[in-house]
Amino acid sequence: MLLSKIKYIKAIGVRCNSLHYVTTPIFYVNAAPHIGHLYSAVIADAHCRYQRLRYPEKTVILCTGTDEHGTKIQQAEAGNRAGSEAVHVSQYCDEISMRYRNVFQAAGILHDDFIRTTEQRHKQAVSHFWQTLQSRGHIYSAAYSGWYCVSDETFLTDSQLRVDEQSGTRYSLESGHPVEWTEETNYMFRLSQFQDDVRHWVKQEARIRPAKFEKILLDTLSEPLPDVSVSRPANRVHWAIPVPNDDTQTVYVWLDALINYLTSRGYPNEQYVTNWPPAQQVIGKDILKFHGIYWPAFLIAAGLSPPQQLYVHSHWTVDGQKMSKSKHNVVDPIKAAEQYTMEGLRYFLLREGVAHSDGNFSHVKALRILNSELADTLGNLLSRACAKSLNPQQMYPVPHAEHFSQLLRDLDAAKRMQEAKLQLAGRCEQHYESNHFHLVADTVIATLHATNNFFECTKPWELKADGSSPNAPRLETIIAMTMDALRLCGIVLQPMMPQLASRLLDKLNVPGSQRTWSVLSESCNNSKSCHLTGGNPVLFQRIVESAQLPSESHSPAKSLQSKRSKSKKQLKMS
Ligand code: ME8
Ligand code: MG
Repeated sequence: MLLSKIKYIKAIGVRCNSLHYVTTPIFYVNAAPHIGHLYSAVIADAHCRYQRLRYPEKTVILCTGTDEHGTKIQQAEAGNRAGSEAVHVSQYCDEISMRYRNVFQAAGILHDDFIRTTEQRHKQAVSHFWQTLQSRGHIYSAAYSGWYCVSDETFLTDSQLRVDEQSGTRYSLESGHPVEWTEETNYMFRLSQFQDDVRHWVKQEARIRPAKFEKILLDTLSEPLPDVSVSRPANRVHWAIPVPNDDTQTVYVWLDALINYLTSRGYPNEQYVTNWPPAQQVIGKDILKFHGIYWPAFLIAAGLSPPQQLYVHSHWTVDGQKMSKSKHNVVDPIKAAEQYTMEGLRYFLLREGVAHSDGNFSHVKALRILNSELADTLGNLLSRACAKSLNPQQMYPVPHAEHFSQLLRDLDAAKRMQEAKLQLAGRCEQHYESNHFHLVADTVIATLHATNNFFECTKPWELKADGSSPNAPRLETIIAMTMDALRLCGIVLQPMMPQLASRLLDKLNVPGSQRTWSVLSESCNNSKSCHLTGGNPVLFQRIVESAQLPSESHSPAKSLQSKRSKSKKQLKMS
């Protein structure tokens, strides 16, 4: 144990220098991707994009992928085959895995690796990891019986069950899925011996975030941990990785799945060591036990360091209900993006989601937030500052020193805007560091409100936009100060909405080298004026409701009839 701790400390040293490895869960291919899956990926992606922006010297690596073994997949594939034409299980996995890839691509998830557990490299990694655990004496064979929940891939104790009085059927308390009595010979992992190590790991500063989930883990750890079964009879779960040197058994899907994080870094080839351990692993609360107890125990048992941080998020409900196929309320990200755009969907998820409690996805709320924040507050301000009537030369001007000081001296709205601009970087940095994306959005929107207010108060449309007019320097100063605020907000928003932010910065003609985090702390004023780029990009088109919006109580993404339309307060930029 001491040895593993020394290695652990060494590995932390390696990580601090320049490598920042981030993961999402790998998703089961038993069902198509929905907004909950996308949410994990968007959190991880925004986190990584911020890291790259803030620490350009770091190498940031993001991995995601699909989990393709186990009873769930076997059953989903069988159901599929019974329904229509025969689809072989591997073809079935290919198809669903590809849907995840496509959704992530459409959503701009910049991953360095997309791993599939059916790949050869992963089978080798699992096999090596198993043999390491075995050679260190952490695996033994035993008869095992208990209530097994197929959907959760796990044995449950009596206290984790609910019995239906009428039918006598038992269900998992946590997931609600039925369980069956199962007796089999399994390989067991000596989890019980790692109780203290896992507790020690969990209790480290900022190990589990939000802190609520640390408490949940410590509660679980206050009871003695039982050993866990890490294999299944091959005849029952044939769609899995065989146990090395015993083809009557296959590796338990959760041991198999967790190892993906190692496989992706090249394990067991030595190269993985420089990438280990992960800086942050993003997971949903449903898989906390596997990542917060089993995973560190497996790693410590194998002589490896557990992750630096688990970032655990809660779940999305839809109109207050759990998403499920049977309720027909599963929100497909691609369909939702037809309504909101993918950037709009990313923004909504990060803006409305908070990690510590469940978020509710509702069309009415999405519409309200996207229209008011992205279309009105941000988009409209940009189009006003770029309007030909105010800005016939189409310039991003430089403020005139004397007017700049005068505005700040005489106008409260100018002071408030300037104050917001000065605090923007510091505050957003703090929020990004803890993945508080909703607070980043709050801060940006507050800055933009202050800027809109400044713009209204100075009434630039009353100043003649004619270069020879005596008002021209004041007008240019107002436009410059407004554009500065937009530019800073655009830089800050890049991790959350990379494409929209880049359209904004493109319009303002901000060169790539001037889009870094360090630019935020430079003087807020542009040093030389430049031309705006041409074109008429719409930053965010207002979403307009059709007359008869159907009730949202079921299938919002499908039943929406609102249209993205160019009418009304259309954000034309001339
Ligand atoms: O559990 N809201 O895969 P999975 C927010 N293969 N996030 C949600 C969500 C919701 N309603 N539903 C799912 C597995 N998620 C395993 C993981 S990792 C080694 C193996 C997200 O397809 C959330 O991150 O069931 C959750 O943990 C994950 O999808 C589960 O995806
Ligand atoms: Mg699940």
